[in-house]
Amino acid sequence: MKSRAAVLFESPGRYQVVDVEVDEPKAHEVLVRYVASGLCHSDVHYLDGSHAGPLPMCAGHEGAGIVEQVGPGVTGFAPGDHFVASFIPSCGRCRYCAQGRTNLCNLGAHLQNGPMPDGTYRMHYDGQDLHQFLLISTFSQYAVVSENSLVKIPNDVPLETVCLLGCGVGTGLGSAINAAEVRPGDNVLVLGAGGVGMSAVQGAALAGAATVIVVDPVEFKREMATTLGATHTYSTIAEATDFVRSISDGQGAESAILCMGQPTNTDVANAFDAIAKGGTVVVTGMAANSEPAAIPIHLLALGGMQKTIRGTLFGMCSPPVDILRQIDLYRAGKLKLDEMITRRYQLNDINSAVDDLAEGRNIRGVVTL
Ligand SMILES: NC(=O)c1ccc[n+]([C@@H]2O[C@H](COP(=O)([O-])OP(=O)(O)OC[C@H]3O[C@@H](n4cnc5c(N)ncnc54)[C@H](O)[C@@H]3O)[C@@H](O)[C@H]2O)c1
Ligand SMILES: [Zn+2]
Ligand SMILES: [Zn+2]
Repeated sequence: MKSRAAVLFESPGRYQVVDVEVDEPKAHEVLVRYVASGLCHSDVHYLDGSHAGPLPMCAGHEGAGIVEQVGPGVTGFAPGDHFVASFIPSCGRCRYCAQGRTNLCNLGAHLQNGPMPDGTYRMHYDGQDLHQFLLISTFSQYAVVSENSLVKIPNDVPLETVCLLGCGVGTGLGSAINAAEVRPGDNVLVLGAGGVGMSAVQGAALAGAATVIVVDPVEFKREMATTLGATHTYSTIAEATDFVRSISDGQGAESAILCMGQPTNTDVANAFDAIAKGGTVVVTGMAANSEPAAIPIHLLALGGMQKTIRGTLFGMCSPPVDILRQIDLYRAGKLKLDEMITRRYQLNDINSAVDDLAEGRNIRGVVTL
């Protein structure tokens, strides 16, 4: 079948919205109709060339929609079911899934390459196979995806809002709750307040942080952060560090969560300096470089510091469990999602969403399919 979709043919580059061909679902695959998809900074990394992936690639990874058709062997979904697509699939059977660490599922090995795990493609354009970004390609009206990439959700929550649960919200919430392990009374620094950072702010607030201190150079982000749970905002980490020391007997924050688009080694070092003894730096943003970070490692063990630096993928969430919990929080009014959507775009205008993200005009932009 034909589907209108945003495709990246070269990087650095812009999306081209074209008619692609989508195959029938094979065994354990599902033909889906996406309703909406958020634009995450991870999409932009592949547009601006700061990360490389195989091209051409049908883009997008933060979507929700409705099941159209199921392939042979699919028992967990039926046509008409609503779903959020998880940017990390979970097989439920590998040793990581079995431990409940489904964000580390072994199927993640297939994410960047884009063909299905059997090595064949389901999307094509002009005789070429298209890679599917993170296997899901949510900037397409239709796609064939693995059943492992979908989380069935109740039919009464708005798909054009809960699409954010496919990446940014779980990543940010989990960065605070699971990775930083925020506890009641903590002082937490959140560096970068886009869709991921604002979700980390909400996660820290939900976990009971006494102060949630946001650093973002953009004034609009700082203003919005205070409506989502931030108690203090600064435009530089130096000011935030001074402040958190002033309220913690000179010790620093229990955790610092790096959610800027392109964290640098200097950002990690500054965050490491800003945390207290026993504190944790969480690196959530995707660094553009692979240079080794210069961290004073004697502070990990000696000097009475016992500091931790940890990376996180999808906020260490378990998508099949956590997306449903997030829906419950949203329904209870405890997780703000609508407030995080600054603008909506038609698929044909997707490059405007990219420009607005790059210029700091959006918390999240959502594309309507
Ligand atoms: N680890 C994961 O699983 C995972 C998942 C999703 C996204 N990400 C990554 O998280 C990062 C954030 O994504 P997003 O969609 O929220 O991006 P975004 O562009 O919407 O937000 C980034 C924010 O950081 C701010 N910023 C830029 N430089 C800063 C600095 N030096 N100090 C403080 N703030 C600064 C920007 O003003 C912006 O508000 C990206 O790198 C993205 O690729 C990682
Ligand atoms: Zn993302
Ligand atoms: Zn698995």
